[in-house]
Amino acid sequence: MSLDDVVRNVKAKQRLWEKEIEQMRSCKFATICVHGAYTKEEAIRNNQGAVIEPVYTSTSQAFQDSDYLEAALAYKIPSWAYSRIANPTIGYLELMLAMLEAYGTKFKTTACCTSSGMAAIKAAAEPFLTEEKKGKKNIVSMAQVYGGTFQLFSERFAKERGIEVRWVENPGDIDEWKSKIDGDTCFAYGEIPSNPGIALFDIAKVAELAHAQGAPLITDATLSTPALCRPLAHGSDIVVHSVTKSMTWSGRAVGGVLVSKENIVSNILSDEAKQDFAGWVKLWPLRDSRACISPDNASRALDCLRVLPSTMNVLSENSMKVAEFLESHPGVEHVNYPGLASHSQHEIAKRYMRLADTDVNRYGHLLSFEVKGGHDAARKVLDRMRFVFGATDLGRIKSVAVIPAISTHQQQGEEGRKKARIPSNLVRLCVGAEDAEDLVNELKHALG
Ligand SMILES: Cc1ncc(COP(=O)(O)O)c(C=O)c1O
Repeated sequence: MSLDDVVRNVKAKQRLWEKEIEQMRSCKFATICVHGAYTKEEAIRNNQGAVIEPVYTSTSQAFQDSDYLEAALAYKIPSWAYSRIANPTIGYLELMLAMLEAYGTKFKTTACCTSSGMAAIKAAAEPFLTEEKKGKKNIVSMAQVYGGTFQLFSERFAKERGIEVRWVENPGDIDEWKSKIDGDTCFAYGEIPSNPGIALFDIAKVAELAHAQGAPLITDATLSTPALCRPLAHGSDIVVHSVTKSMTWSGRAVGGVLVSKENIVSNILSDEAKQDFAGWVKLWPLRDSRACISPDNASRALDCLRVLPSTMNVLSENSMKVAEFLESHPGVEHVNYPGLASHSQHEIAKRYMRLADTDVNRYGHLLSFEVKGGHDAARKVLDRMRFVFGATDLGRIKSVAVIPAISTHQQQGEEGRKKARIPSNLVRLCVGAEDAEDLVNELKHALG
């Protein structure tokens, strides 16, 4: 068989599957979470009818002859020649996440899974930081980002590579974004909502400002998950997630993903890279540096994603009850939760955070609160918790709490924490699926 015949054969099979996936895309969000791209036909055609996606732990794929091998290695046919670059189990997860992020739109989206959320953020950001115009370029990001992202931008990009990082200190203020985004901006960056400050930004307005200057908007929607917010539909070009968090609420996997829509905005990237950014990252930059997720972790994420909307609904409902209780408690100075009317960006949250396929606002399960009495009082509250685990983790089915100033945001330093508005008496609480009354009693006890 000639190389051209191989390409024709494999592409014909691929087109069949693409048609099946397109049919799945017309289903409701919850159905896509259960099935993703793993259709009945795909199961029978390629996986001996296995009902659940098999975990392909093999490092590589064998080919029937040298023509197939050549076509695969030339990227002329979809394949999984080597698991650092592609693997069927990881592929099923990527297709599911691409479908979920595109839900409710006509966009074509692609996804690239990575070994962690940080790997996804780095993989999404680095292609824009090319060497030309060095010393002139800037990144515009909200200051209240996850501590790891803050360090990546300020240490690796600013200090080591000389890229100016313009921090937006009040992300709800569109004029501040406007004053910082200009023709030398490589990309704008925000979290919705942010960890641990629970700040939000107006995705559509920031995307518009960035696009006017030829720059893309990258949004980290880890805390929302696609069940509550899908930034691509609002104008973002790329969305990144720590798959480690609410998407894999079991707490049994570390992973990340970047998802992009077709033809993203950028005055830096080539046309090929803009057309399918996530696919391009997967086959080119990540081929060389590859921080790939393991097939085991991908299958664990798939298992949790099947019930993502109902899980996020329960966790959000619990969080709302806990936030209301904390707001009424005399031992608490302030509560940050986007579902509270007192949250300064509640209106933005109402616009962007809604349970898929409903008109119901749901605000996720991360909140933070400032304890009266300063840092020592906050430590006492943490130490008095019984079933709420004290750990630098979030997104779990179990409640987990931490003091960011001495943990997740310790390395950011006093000045960095001030910029990100993280006082030393702030307790971050990620609410689990325990009974809401038990949770309230637990906090009553912890607050003394
Ligand atoms: C909002 C957000 N983005 C990214 C990350 C990094 O994810 P990972 O720990 O999977 O690298 C985290 C981690 O807590 C996070 O909270």
